Amino acid sequence: MKSVIIKTPATTANLGPGFDCLGIALDLWNELKVTEGDFSIEIEGEGVNQIPLDSRNLIVTGLEAVFNYIGKKPKKYSYICNNKIPFSRGLGSSSAAIVSGLLAGSVLSGANLDKETLVNLASEIEGHPDNVAPAIYGGFTIGLKEQNKWIIDEVSISKEVNAILFIPNFYIDTHQSRSNLPENISRSDVIYNIARVALLINSFNKQSFNLLNIATKDKIHQPYRSGNIPGYQSIVKGAIKGGANGVYISGSGPTIVAITRGKEVTVRYEMAEAARLSQVEGESIIVPISDTGAFIDSYE
Ligand code: HSE
Repeated sequence: MKSVIIKTPATTANLGPGFDCLGIALDLWNELKVTEGDFSIEIEGEGVNQIPLDSRNLIVTGLEAVFNYIGKKPKKYSYICNNKIPFSRGLGSSSAAIVSGLLAGSVLSGANLDKETLVNLASEIEGHPDNVAPAIYGGFTIGLKEQNKWIIDEVSISKEVNAILFIPNFYIDTHQSRSNLPENISRSDVIYNIARVALLINSFNKQSFNLLNIATKDKIHQPYRSGNIPGYQSIVKGAIKGGANGVYISGSGPTIVAITRGKEVTVRYEMAEAARLSQVEGESIIVPISDTGAFIDSYE
């Protein structure tokens, strides 16, 4: 194989209390074409002036990780990216880069790795599985590490569920944001989160969302991050007023996600209106859930 095109979805992680464990794939895609030849990286769309165009690029990290894993030396490749996933906004742009590089490496090396191996490699690079797992499997995933192995389990999610995103016009660096979180949390905060994760998973399993607004609350990261998102409280209130079932900070932010089943247009409007009244610039969009993860679009 000399050339491959990979498509990889955006993802929304944490869902409130499921810090570093829970994530959902969204129907919003980056496309990557990798071709054997002189090294170059071209980017069109999101992140065009931010993403490094050298070996620091996470696509290259992903591709080389596959070659390292199988003990082969990678050839030289050119990379063409058509990005639709907003960059550094809490929608899994880094994970999409890692996963697309891994999948491209898997095809071009002939290794044809299974999802389990891909998710292990991706989680080791990223450090946590909450974005990379749904980017690989699609849908709603729970990810955790047990004895040096990443375990992924899938939660059923109805096609009627949509995510309404408010994407502010500024970037948040995940590493920086994580470094501001406390290392230790109290037992009462742990209990607060455990109970809500259980409630959240149960809500999806029962397809009953009347407690989702309580289930998406959290004490591990949102209280420390929400202050960095202007208008956060108003946008959350707007979403609930519009009929959202639950609202949370997507990953490390700044995107705010409302989960809805119905009333999508009203929720989108209320979030955008709350942002406008708070003088926060950004975009509010309705995005369906994707039940498929990254895939090989074509190869030659
Ligand atoms: N779980 C991660 C975090 C997601 O909240 O920092 C962002 O990569």
